[in-house]
Amino acid sequence: MIIKSAEFVRSVANPNDLSVYSLPEFAFVGRSNVGKSSLINSLANKKKLAKTSSTPGRTKLINIFKINNAFHLIDLPGYGFAQASKSEQASWQGLIGSYLENSANLRRVFVLVDIRHEPTEKDKLMLSYLYTYNIPFNIVATKADKIARGQINKQVSLIANTLGVGIDDIIVTSNMDKTGNSKILDLIENLMK
Ligand code: GTP
Ligand code: MG
Repeated sequence: MIIKSAEFVRSVANPNDLSVYSLPEFAFVGRSNVGKSSLINSLANKKKLAKTSSTPGRTKLINIFKINNAFHLIDLPGYGFAQASKSEQASWQGLIGSYLENSANLRRVFVLVDIRHEPTEKDKLMLSYLYTYNIPFNIVATKADKIARGQINKQVSLIANTLGVGIDDIIVTSNMDKTGNSKILDLIENLMK
């Protein structure tokens, strides 16, 4: 897929505000700092479309981006950010949950995990949640540039085993060299047919 346009639509604090839209939605979830906003920028070919930060907890609302006037990428707050206050964590989790359960246009969720680490209990909870609500997803292993090439298969197996998915369900990405971007965009294109 060729990206012809990418624009910020708006931030919402209430998932009900998304009900006015009808474009297909593709959402990005995962721990704080895993690279959700960065991946959206990389896919959209725009460095500063979504706000990113080396400090976890950057994205606090639901941010909507419109690509090619054809679909929306949905940037969600991260989970598992220990430094956030309990009430802040609860409000983000509520936001993620109510979005995932209620969005009529949601076509696929990309669950991001850092390729360097074994997925956490929070990641497993996210997956069981998606299974419970019958929401289709793919796993994206991020930051592949941070490990040696020879380590990639081993880490993908570790992630697959920990999460109970097949290795083919995992898309390896790096925003440094755009590894995996075309796989995600092709998948999105197919899901819009
Ligand atoms: P929250 O909004 O806090 O939930 O975080 P996020 O998941 O949106 O992460 P964000 O995109 O802000 O990225 C976090 C940090 O990881 C930033 O410093 C990014 O530059 C870095 N990062 C993201 N993707 C990659 C990658 O593919 N390679 C490398 N080396 N760094 C990355
Ligand atoms: Mg973010």
